[in-house]
Amino acid sequence: MASAIITDANAFLVALLLLSLSHIPFSSSTIQQDFVMCLVDNSDASFPMDSSFFTRDLNASSYKMALETSAQNLRYLMPSNPKPEFIFEPLYETHVQAAVACAKKLQLHLRLRSGGHDYEGLSYVSEMETAFVIVDLSKLRHINVDLESNTAWVHAGASIGEVYYRIQEKSKVHGFPAGLCTSLGIGGHIIGGAYGSMMRKFGLGADNVLDARIVDADGKILNRAAMGEDVFWAIRGGGGGSFGVILAWKIKLVPVPETVTVFTVTKTLEQDGTRILYKWQQVADKLDEDLFIRAIIQPASKTPKSKERTISVSYQGQFLGDANRLMQVMQRSFPQLGLMKKDCVETSWIKSLMYIAGFPSTAPPEALLDGKSLFKNYFKAKSDYVEEPIPIEGLEGLWKKLLEEDSPLTIWNPYGGMMAKIPETETPFPHRSGTLFKIQWLTLWQDGKASEAKHMDWMRDMYSYMEQYVSKSPRAAYVNYRDLDLGMNGKGSDAREWGNKYFKGNFERLVKIKAKFDPENFFRHEQSIPTGLE
Ligand SMILES: Cc1cc2nc3c(=O)[nH]c(=O)nc-3n(C[C@H](O)[C@H](O)[C@H](O)COP(=O)(O)OP(=O)(O)OC[C@H]3O[C@@H](n4cnc5c(N)ncnc54)[C@H](O)[C@@H]3O)c2cc1C
Ligand SMILES: *[C@@H]1O[C@H](CO)[C@@H](O)[C@H](O)[C@H]1NC(C)=O
Repeated sequence: MASAIITDANAFLVALLLLSLSHIPFSSSTIQQDFVMCLVDNSDASFPMDSSFFTRDLNASSYKMALETSAQNLRYLMPSNPKPEFIFEPLYETHVQAAVACAKKLQLHLRLRSGGHDYEGLSYVSEMETAFVIVDLSKLRHINVDLESNTAWVHAGASIGEVYYRIQEKSKVHGFPAGLCTSLGIGGHIIGGAYGSMMRKFGLGADNVLDARIVDADGKILNRAAMGEDVFWAIRGGGGGSFGVILAWKIKLVPVPETVTVFTVTKTLEQDGTRILYKWQQVADKLDEDLFIRAIIQPASKTPKSKERTISVSYQGQFLGDANRLMQVMQRSFPQLGLMKKDCVETSWIKSLMYIAGFPSTAPPEALLDGKSLFKNYFKAKSDYVEEPIPIEGLEGLWKKLLEEDSPLTIWNPYGGMMAKIPETETPFPHRSGTLFKIQWLTLWQDGKASEAKHMDWMRDMYSYMEQYVSKSPRAAYVNYRDLDLGMNGKGSDAREWGNKYFKGNFERLVKIKAKFDPENFFRHEQSIPTGLE
């Protein structure tokens, strides 16, 4: 049987593990023991315990490291948050199959993690089950770029930065349109949409997927043909953790020019900031599709030495072309920003992504390979979609709110272009034609529990102030900016409400597909797609 294939060394490690577990008088040790024995029986690949299995009982410090390394929101790593019984890091696809089969058999609740960037920690914390384990795919990160077919197979645990790196390693004129933050896990990122600086030209990451390999609740591996078009539709935007474990995506590469231009121009309120942002709202979705200009808005000191704060708006741009053509486009469409040739940096596609991600200009592309996050905080975030420009008085009211908070940040991302051409029902991601831009709301803090309530209150108050200015019925939201406040009422979480916000009319189709593909609701979390609606 399968266990016969494990090497002597592995058998020794498993024996050691079982021995050590048998001395621990907690019930969790039985769970671990049963799980490991089941894995050994079910997995036909060798099974090195020491590099794939982490529990507090065996080694508290390596367990802590395995749990925390990729977890992005420190708010979910506090002592009061429930912790997994153990963390399993599969080395082979068959390990994932075995983990699902064994969890099902032993009725263990799984959390799936690729890059750990979930805003509400859903990939590493469960508030709804007493015991849970993490299947962390970070060791399944192989990437195979094939220029001949213009495609790549990328394993779920790879970061998006690694994917970009592997593409440009083979060609300077191929790219992929996905997220800006390079440490995102490709597994959890694409499944919720995946937007980035080329979305206006090529759409989302999810719009550029050709095939996928997924492990279903029976532990079977299915490709597109085997899972069927309904499930293949659902996993291109329906959100992580609802349908199965994505092992890998087959993505379509897109053409990028050898010269890409980036810039950042900052305007404060004293520099006519409000009026320029008002203008940006009118043009950002209509610009040349090669141009993406996002607005990053936050409080800043009025002068270098002053304690008094103002609002600064940084316009960060990526243009798929050279600076001369960019200057012409800006002169024609958005002269109010006052972009000058000296603000423009001509560079390669990969360096333009690193610029936007916040790497220092001296960092080599190889820095993308260590997959480190440049962002780790206690934070709360929300999202909004805007269909009509927010009037000047609305912006002024928002400035007052932002100035009340310690470290708020809001990032406005332009839509239009290809985003407006793809029909709303093409994928579960429905925010297409009619959307001017998306807002991401953030507030960050460093002192943990101490000030959490204050910041959460601020966020909710600001969100309620903005209601009048953003999309209505539903007030839409981006599923990859997971927000557990949505749909919360006196009786708990109303799936219909958050479902409509994330997916609009596509939600009911997602529910039907879920009911057929995972009727026992094996893959679930606080906001997973339900098998039915009340
Ligand atoms: C700093 C930061 C920057 C961001 N920038 C962008 C951006 O530019 N563009 C954008 O679109 N989004 C962005 N996001 C949001 C991001 O796309 C989502 O958080 C996404 O879900 C992250 O995927 P992950 O694998 O890193 O996260 P994880 O926390 O590992 O997973 C997220 C969700 O997917 C599930 N999941 C994970 N792996 C799998 C799998 N293999 N199969 C099935 N389900 C799985 C998890 O259970 C969880 O529910 C950003 C987030 C952060 C924190
Ligand atoms: C526990 O894990 C840490 C970190 O991986 C390692 O340095 C240490 O040697 C381990 N201790 C034991 C007893 O295995």
